[in-house]
Amino acid sequence: MKGAVLPEKSATLILFGATGDLAHRMLFPSLYHLMCDGLLPSPFHILASGRTEMDDAAFRATIAEALATYAQAELLDDARVATFLEMIVYAAVAAGDDSQFAALAARATAFSDGPIAVYLSTPPALFAPTAQGLARAGLVLPSTRIAMEKPIGKDLASSKEVNDAIGALFPEEQIFRVDHYLGKETVQNLMALRFGNRLFEPLWNSSAIDHVQITVAETVGLEGRVSYYDGVGALKDMVQNHVLQILSIIAMEPPARMESTSVRDEKVKALRSLRPMDPETVRTHSVRGQYRDGAVKGKLIAGYAEELGKESDTETFVALKAYLDNWRWTGVPFYLRTGKCMPNRQSEILIQFKPVTHSIFRRNGYGSALEPNQLIIRLQPDENIRLCIMAKRPGLDRDGVKLQEVGLDVSLAHAFAGERRRIAYERLLLDLLEGDTTLFVRRDEVEAQWTWIDSISAGWKASDQKSVQYAAGTWGPSAGIALIERDGASWYD
Ligand code: BG6
Repeated sequence: MKGAVLPEKSATLILFGATGDLAHRMLFPSLYHLMCDGLLPSPFHILASGRTEMDDAAFRATIAEALATYAQAELLDDARVATFLEMIVYAAVAAGDDSQFAALAARATAFSDGPIAVYLSTPPALFAPTAQGLARAGLVLPSTRIAMEKPIGKDLASSKEVNDAIGALFPEEQIFRVDHYLGKETVQNLMALRFGNRLFEPLWNSSAIDHVQITVAETVGLEGRVSYYDGVGALKDMVQNHVLQILSIIAMEPPARMESTSVRDEKVKALRSLRPMDPETVRTHSVRGQYRDGAVKGKLIAGYAEELGKESDTETFVALKAYLDNWRWTGVPFYLRTGKCMPNRQSEILIQFKPVTHSIFRRNGYGSALEPNQLIIRLQPDENIRLCIMAKRPGLDRDGVKLQEVGLDVSLAHAFAGERRRIAYERLLLDLLEGDTTLFVRRDEVEAQWTWIDSISAGWKASDQKSVQYAAGTWGPSAGIALIERDGASWYD
């Protein structure tokens, strides 16, 4: 799944936010894994930057610890860890401090005169000042690539401000907006399933599909991210990005080729087809929930407000009924649901097909009813594809043929046993170093996502829609279940 690749690989990575949680849990372990597989250029340099003052040795010690905890155990090896740590230098840089940026630039240019990749794993308020600091230090060149973690803004207006500020310094082809779900093998596999098989595409539309469900359920709660999460909530934290990226891949037209522009052109068209909500529709097409105390997998969990230390209306669960107004999906509801403190960690897509147009099996009140086909694509924690089909139950059929639903199951973990499962960031970091933007989110996609999300937030505000409580360890408030059951369907749990 490669797109067009710019010629020269970056051999220098400048990482802002290097002392943060994401860098420790994901980015450094991913870079380490890439090094172990011989996928990093040689030599390779990581210029790590944070606000805290420390020297290279102190910073490397923190990374050694992070690798011991988060790198894949079978790849851990003292000699390799030492080689990796040697690649890292640390520089404290505060946004707005030009002398620190100049010192950073001096180190970066001493390493190589090839393209530099920059990764912003900082709070979004620092994206523009950091990019401007880099520009003043002479590090923004036609070859410099810049990656930004989500969230890009908190609504359409603020995301435009970030995009304008970064866009003033970098052309779009050099901007890599990260949505780590696109780095997940299983999410990329959605394209393989749809466009690598003849079987599904002719039926992938409103004539054969009744509805689509996308569930991204997490067992974790706030996990100490209080300062970021409160006031953001599930709609902006999960739906605006991960859930809508999955939706765009499920809903898009076939791209002409597996290449950045073709793929992203089709995704943005799908995102732009989302029908905006208004204060009336949010009442029937959306549910907000917030977990209260309960138990997840036998562990007692304090309620959101208790953990936060104050009352809050921030939603930790959202269920939506979305429509795409286009030729392919007219009248097909997309039910979207995501939540924290759910009973299972489970990301799943259900394609519910319509019933056969005429059943030959029912006769004079005898014989079986038919269950419409379902295609269930499980993305996490395990990777499975299940197609539910009707089969004849063995028997002599004296009172009519009896059919029963059976599953055609493909376990991808089993089919590809022996292939190492990579952290999503390995793929994304490698693509960044190589300059391939296919699996990153283009400006118009982010803005189409925000346009739809803003319509929901505005609807909630105008209709004063509050979060309804649900016990931690359940599938959200009963209103979330009613949202789909009113239409005669039910969530696939
Ligand atoms: C992040 C959200 O983008 O994705 C988190 O900010 C969420 O709130 C996480 O927990 C989920 O990612 P994954 O890869 O664990 O499904």
